[in-house]
Amino acid sequence: MDFLPQNISDYAEAHTTAEHDLLKKLNRDTHLKILQPRMLSGHLQGRFLAEISHLMRPRRILEIGTYTGYSALCLAEGLVDDGKLITIDINEELETFTRSFFEASAFAHKIEYIIGDAAEIIPTLNEVFDLVFIDADKMNYTKYYNLVFDLVRKGGYILSDNVLWSGKVANIQEGKKIDKDTRNLLDFNKMCHDDPRTENILLPIRDGIMISRKI
Ligand SMILES: C[S@@+](CC[C@H](N)C(=O)[O-])C[C@H]1O[C@@H](n2cnc3c(N)ncnc32)[C@H](O)[C@@H]1O
Repeated sequence: MDFLPQNISDYAEAHTTAEHDLLKKLNRDTHLKILQPRMLSGHLQGRFLAEISHLMRPRRILEIGTYTGYSALCLAEGLVDDGKLITIDINEELETFTRSFFEASAFAHKIEYIIGDAAEIIPTLNEVFDLVFIDADKMNYTKYYNLVFDLVRKGGYILSDNVLWSGKVANIQEGKKIDKDTRNLLDFNKMCHDDPRTENILLPIRDGIMISRKI
């Protein structure tokens, strides 16, 4: 999933502001207690998301795919005083664990954590978003993008995670079968790139983030 050689990755992390204590504990506890800890954004990507948020000073953020809340806590850092981050996850088994970290953070009053299917919840949201982070099931990325698009303000951003899919999207070989998730991400990346309503950059950080700015 990480494309950088280990020494470069270690060096980049060593010269990136450390995770503060709560994120460090969340990262550690997720690895100790929760299935599939590699889903968590992690130190370098987490600091990247936090910096984007600090740069933008958003009023409204939507996250699709909370997992244990690591990226939500990073994204919440730059919210303005009356800002709000809405984060949606379908997995109710993670709720108690995740909520405890939100409550222990300085952003508890700014985070609205919704359990449910994002495809059903997004159409009920009556908000205009500055920033959307898509990080849920890959087969529905295009659906989420289309559902959120009109809710994003002009100049706002949609960030979509894992678009390099461990490099599989760039390793397509003639005659070889393409698995479903890779096919979905190939189609999603093409759709983002061809969308005349945005400007985009595919940033090869961690598993790849598509950054789309609504023009
Ligand atoms: C990669 S994890 C999110 C990681 C998190 N954003 C982070 O960086 O720490 C993907 C999450 O999407 C959730 N998910 C999958 N399908 C979903 C759906 N239809 N609606 C909402 N969440 C969904 C999963 O339960 C899982 O927790």
